[in-house]
Amino acid sequence: MSTYLAHFKVWRGDPDGGALQDYDVEVNDGEVVLDIIHRLQATQAQDLAVRWNCKAGKCGSCSAEINGRPRLLCMTRMSVFGREDVITVTPMRAFPVIRDLVTDVSFNYAKAREIPAFVPPEGLKPGEYRMTQDDVERSQEFRKCIECFLCQDTCHVVRDHEENKAAFAGPRFLMRIAELDMHPLDAAAEAGLDRKVSAQDEHGLGYCNITKCCTEVCPEHIKITDNALIPLKERVVDRKYDPLVWLGAKIRRRA
Ligand code: SF4
Ligand code: SF4
Ligand code: FES
Repeated sequence: MSTYLAHFKVWRGDPDGGALQDYDVEVNDGEVVLDIIHRLQATQAQDLAVRWNCKAGKCGSCSAEINGRPRLLCMTRMSVFGREDVITVTPMRAFPVIRDLVTDVSFNYAKAREIPAFVPPEGLKPGEYRMTQDDVERSQEFRKCIECFLCQDTCHVVRDHEENKAAFAGPRFLMRIAELDMHPLDAAAEAGLDRKVSAQDEHGLGYCNITKCCTEVCPEHIKITDNALIPLKERVVDRKYDPLVWLGAKIRRRA
């Protein structure tokens, strides 16, 4: 087993301010960045705050930035860095710092609450739902989300523009709207809720310029932009400019 000392710069601080601090920490074969942060806590910085739960890439709580890139601490292998590299670990930039590497992600929970839930089709009981395999697979891709909020952190619409947060749900929650809007059994339209219109008017879909940065950082490899955001934008355009869709919606509303 080979062991070496890695050079780390870790952001230490609180809402009043902070700075990067230098640490040299032992690394062993097969370790991930979270192992090194834990060793740092155990040996040199007992009061270092870091959030984690599963250490298996499934709980979504160890999100931070490594060398400026949003990543899960537990899924970033030390072997991707050179032994002489300086590895910088900072909290997610789009959310307010609580302490050290821990941020307040309640923005995301507030956005989640703003999205109306699945509307069950009238007259069908849960055991009677039938869907094609294509529709099942589409939902399943979106359902792989572990709510790490790395996509929310990386999206430039809010990353450097705090003022956009009120009007923009972010990729994770626009994806949720897309999932529900494309769900063949969702009866929101029949209940008077047009998810496309609300995505555009209330959740800021228009701010997204499909740069795909959110897709690049997703640890679940969900194609957020290609499979959720672009189709949702296309559906908004269809609804707005296709006279048949417009007429159909009008007739349905009257009926
Ligand atoms: S594709 Fe849209 S939601 Fe994703 S990072 Fe770019 S602007 Fe943000
Ligand atoms: S979509 Fe991907 S990056 Fe975004 S919160 Fe879910 S798992 Fe994390
Ligand atoms: S500790 Fe659970 S995803 Fe990293």
